[in-house]
Amino acid sequence: MPAARIDEVRDEVSALAQSAHNAQELMQRMVKLLHERMLKYNWVGFYLLEPGADPPMLVLGAFEGAVTPHTRIPLDQGICGAAASCGRTVVVDDVRKDPRYLACSLETKSEIVVPIFAKGKVVGELDIDSHFSAAFTPEHQDLVQHCATLVGKKLEASGH
Ligand code: SME
Repeated sequence: MPAARIDEVRDEVSALAQSAHNAQELMQRMVKLLHERMLKYNWVGFYLLEPGADPPMLVLGAFEGAVTPHTRIPLDQGICGAAASCGRTVVVDDVRKDPRYLACSLETKSEIVVPIFAKGKVVGELDIDSHFSAAFTPEHQDLVQHCATLVGKKLEASGH
């Protein structure tokens, strides 16, 4: 993926954040855009922490790609749980080698999960799966982190 293409998509998601009326609309349009524009982003979805749930639970929100059995993920499970509980981006170049991995599609080879913060706390995450191994190079990590930051700001703006 040439850097110029990544920069273009970065500008497009920034424009989306300007025009979206609320966080839900932004997330819906963002998953569609990333899935359509990025060849290697074969499943793109948001998980949000369920308000008030004890124990905490990640619940699937807007997504594009194959239907997943993992619509609710506790924080002690999966790469999704790991990223939300440590509050840091997790990149897995080869999901077959990561015992935390919860399979969504047999075709998935690599995955990135980026936490979303609002008012300093993790409120959800952006999860992307690829049919290509090691798809999430540092340039892609920057793009996906930018997307997560935009959504965090929008959630804050809506009082999250
Ligand atoms: N692979 C994730 C589960 C979500 S699906 O990929 C959509 C995980 O290991 O947490």
